[in-house]
Amino acid sequence: MRSMGTKSLQHHKSPQPKRIRSMVRTSLIVAIAISILAFGTYAYAEDLPSFTVGIPGRSGCLVCHGDPKIQQNKTKVSLYVSQEDILQSAHKDVACTKCHVDFSQASTSQAHTAVAGDFKKTASLACKNCHQHSGMLKVYSKSIHGRLSLSGDPKGGASCGDCHGSHNIKSFKKDKAYKAEFHLKGKEVCGKCHMKYYESYDDYYHGRAYKANAVDAPACWDCHGAHDVASAGNAVSMVSKERLPKTCAKCHVDASKGLVSFAPMIHGRAQAQDKNALIKMKNKVMAWFNSNVVKNVTAWAGR
Ligand code: HEC
Ligand code: HEC
Ligand code: HEC
Ligand code: HEC
Ligand code: HEC
Ligand code: HEC
Ligand code: HEC
Repeated sequence: MRSMGTKSLQHHKSPQPKRIRSMVRTSLIVAIAISILAFGTYAYAEDLPSFTVGIPGRSGCLVCHGDPKIQQNKTKVSLYVSQEDILQSAHKDVACTKCHVDFSQASTSQAHTAVAGDFKKTASLACKNCHQHSGMLKVYSKSIHGRLSLSGDPKGGASCGDCHGSHNIKSFKKDKAYKAEFHLKGKEVCGKCHMKYYESYDDYYHGRAYKANAVDAPACWDCHGAHDVASAGNAVSMVSKERLPKTCAKCHVDASKGLVSFAPMIHGRAQAQDKNALIKMKNKVMAWFNSNVVKNVTAWAGR
C-alpha cells in the first residue's frame, strides 16, 4: 500500500504502466464515491482540484480540502490545506487521519471530527503517538507545557503543534535551511504566548543580535530547552541556579562565575519593571496621564 502510494505521488511526473494508471483511476472514483456517500451531495465534487491518490485518508480528504474556497460553514474560517505544503513536509507519507485521529465518517453533518471546536487540540497532540524516540514523550510530559497540555488544564500549556505548526513541518536533520529558518522564529514559536519575555529578551549580546537575525545568537530554546521547559525556580530547569553554568557553557568556553552572573541581564528590562516598585509606579502614572490628561487636552484642543 505504502509503496504504491509513493509511486502514484509522482504520477504527474513520470509515465507509468497502464495497469497502475487504471488502478489509480478506479481508486479515484471510489474515493469520490465514498466522499459523496459520507457527506451527501457535495458542491466541490463538480470542480475537482488536481490531487493524488493512493495513500488512504489523504487523497480523499484533499478532494475537498485542497480547494482554496473551502471553509467552515458557521465560522467561515478557511479549511484549505495546501497539497504542496504537505508534499514538502516531513509527513508526506503520513495519512491525514494519523494526526486527525478524531475524524469520523459516521458523522451525519458535514463537520466530521468528534467535537469540531476541539479538533485542533486533538491533532496538535496526536504527534505523541508516533514521536516517542529518545524518551521524548516522557520528557515532554514532565515539562511545564506538557503537564498542562496533557491534563487538559484550562491554562493551556503548549502542545506539540503549538510550537511546530501543522502541515508544513520539515525535518531539522535533513533540511538545514529549515533548521536555520526555525532557529530565528522565537517570536512565532514562543513569543505568541510569552510576548513579554520575547520583548524583554533584548540585551545587546544575545537578544538584540537575535532580533537582527544573527545566526549564532541563542534562540529561546538554546537556554530554556524545547521539550523539557521548566520554571526557573525548579532545579531541573536549564536556567535554574544549579544548571545555568552548564547552559551558558554550551557556547561560552569559559563559563566562569563571573560570566554566569550576567544571566539576569538577559531579560533585564522586564525583571526591572516587575520588581522595581518605582518603575511600576512611574508606568502607572504615565498610563493615567496618557489616558486622562492627554485625552482631555486633545478633546479640549479639538473643540
Ligand atoms: C466531501 C468533502 C470532504 C471530504 C472528502 C473531507 N472533508 Fe473535512 N470538511 C469538509 C467540510 C465541508 C468541512 C466543514 C464542516 C463545517 O462547516 O463544520 C470539513 C471540516 C473538516 C475539519 C475541521 C473540523 C470539523 O469537523 O469541522 C477537519 C479537521 C477535516 N475536515 C479533516 C478532514 C479529513 C482528515 C478528511 C479525510 C479523512 C476530510 N476532512 C475529508 C469537507 C470534506
Ligand atoms: C502531522 C500532523 C498532521 C497531518 C499529517 C495533517 N494535519 Fe491537518 N492539522 C494538524 C494540526 C496540528 C492542525 C491545527 C493547526 C492549528 O492549531 O491551527 C491541523 C489543521 C487542519 C485543518 C484546519 C485548517 C487549518 O489548516 O488550520 C484542516 C481542514 C486539516 N488540518 C485537514 C488535514 C488534511 C486534509 C490532511 C491530509 C492531507 C491533514 N490535515 C494532515 C495536523 C496535521
Ligand atoms: C515549547 C515548544 C515545543 C513543544 C511544546 C514541542 N516541541 Fe518539539 N521541538 C521544539 C524545538 C525548539 C525543537 C528543536 C529545534 C532545533 O533543533 O532547532 C524541537 C525538536 C523536535 C523534533 C526534532 C528533534 C528530535 O528530538 O527528534 C521532533 C521530532 C519534535 N520536536 C517533536 C515534538 C513532539 C512530538 C512534541 C509533543 C509531544 C513536541 N515536539 C513538543 C519545540 C517544541
Ligand atoms: C503517524 C506517525 C506520525 C505522526 C502522527 C506525526 N509524525 Fe512527525 N514524523 C513522523 C515520521 C515517520 C517522521 C520522519 C520523516 C523523515 O524521516 O523525514 C516525522 C518527522 C517529524 C519531524 C522532523 C524530525 C527531524 O528533525 O527529522 C518533526 C519536527 C515532527 N515529525 C513533528 C511532528 C508533530 C509536531 C506532529 C503532530 C502535529 C507529528 N510529528 C505527527 C511520523 C509522525
Ligand atoms: C501555546 C502557548 C505557549 C507556547 C507556544 C509556549 N509556552 Fe511556555 N508556557 C505556557 C503556559 C500556559 C505556561 C504556564 C504559565 C504559568 O504557569 O503561569 C508556560 C510556562 C513557561 C515557562 C515557565 C514560566 C513560569 O512562570 O514558571 C517557561 C520558561 C516557558 N514557558 C518558556 C517557553 C519557551 C522557551 C517556549 C518556546 C520554545 C514556550 N514557552 C512556548 C504557554 C506557552
Ligand atoms: C541566553 C539565555 C536565554 C535566552 C536566549 C532566553 N532566556 Fe528566558 N530566561 C533566561 C534566564 C537566565 C531566566 C531566569 C532569570 C530571569 O528571569 O531573568 C529566564 C527567564 C525566562 C522566563 C521566566 C521563567 C520563570 O520561571 O519565571 C520566561 C517565561 C522566559 N525566560 C522566556 C523566554 C523566551 C520566550 C525567550 C525567547 C524570546 C527567552 N526566554 C530567551 C535565559 C534566557
Ligand atoms: C547559543 C549560544 C549562547 C548561549 C547558550 C549563551 N550565549 Fe552568551 N553570547 C553568545 C554570543 C554569540 C555572544 C556574542 C559574542 C561576541 O559578540 O563576541 C555572547 C556574549 C555574551 C556576553 C558578553 C561578551 C562576553 O563574552 O563577555 C556575556 C556576558 C554572555 N554572553 C553571557 C551569557 C550567559 C550568562 C549565558 C547563560 C545564561 C549565555 N551567555 C548563554 C552566545 C551564547
